[in-house]
Amino acid sequence: MVKYSAPGKVFLFGEHAVVYGKRAIACAIDLRTTVEITSSRQGVRIQSAFKDEPDKNQYIKVALKKFQRFASVDGINISVSSKIPVASGLGSSAAVTIATIAALNDEFQTNLSLEEIAAMGHQTELEVQGAASPTDTFVSTMGGTVIVPDKKKLPPITCGVVVGYTGISKSTSRMVSRVRTLKERYPEIIDGIMDCIGNMSTRGEELVAKNDYKSIGELMNVNQGLLDAIGVSIPELSVQVNAARSCGAYGAKITGAGGGGCMVALCEPDKCREIATAIGKSCGDSFITKPTAEGVRRE
Ligand code: PMV
Repeated sequence: MVKYSAPGKVFLFGEHAVVYGKRAIACAIDLRTTVEITSSRQGVRIQSAFKDEPDKNQYIKVALKKFQRFASVDGINISVSSKIPVASGLGSSAAVTIATIAALNDEFQTNLSLEEIAAMGHQTELEVQGAASPTDTFVSTMGGTVIVPDKKKLPPITCGVVVGYTGISKSTSRMVSRVRTLKERYPEIIDGIMDCIGNMSTRGEELVAKNDYKSIGELMNVNQGLLDAIGVSIPELSVQVNAARSCGAYGAKITGAGGGGCMVALCEPDKCREIATAIGKSCGDSFITKPTAEGVRRE
């Protein structure tokens, strides 16, 4: 029996722009998905915690198919449990994919490196979703704060992190395709927005190195304005973002594809509770989370 877990993530900057090769910064958070593999005589069986979202098993099936190039897999039980809300922008698909591949790697002694696990995870997301940047799978594998497409680790985020969850599930592929349509219709306008978002990540890299959370927050607010401009915010997310800002967050924005899902606020650690309460009162749910340095790990 082997058991592996992998973390979810929040985007500080760069969702959507990263699909077009621009930079993004993401940070792993201490919500994890756990995958346990035991051998079985009855073929491959998947018991998933994601019962309300059968599509999630698709990630496991495709990961398994990709892994079969390295070892022949017949007769295993895969069982999944997760603390990451699904379809929320917190990277539950990447976490289940990465934890599955790492567990298979251990069970079948295939010696894949972390980079190879992240790459196989990205290929899996691409096949399932049609479009996916390497952000979620890379940060879920490596943990900590990362910048992509550079695939470089940055110093840890040490301020408070609060997440607001609208409770409205969203589809990443649908949001990505809506943004693509807008970009194709108005390239001379939307291309500039994507460049600008990418530049925020470049500037963000310097600010993360200096722990300058006030400026990071300021730029997150600018990033939110541009996400709104490309049509991925919804009123519920705006209400939560404004509630966090009114309570003194350094900055607040959508995390992930938008159209539902979650927002993230950075703040002084002793303001987390007040900000979480304000977000929760404004609409949906909220929770305080912590950045984590740990990526995929054996349990
Ligand atoms: O909502 P999530 O966690 O699936 O993030 C989507 C982020 C996008 O940039 C919109 C797409 C991607 O693959 O990076």
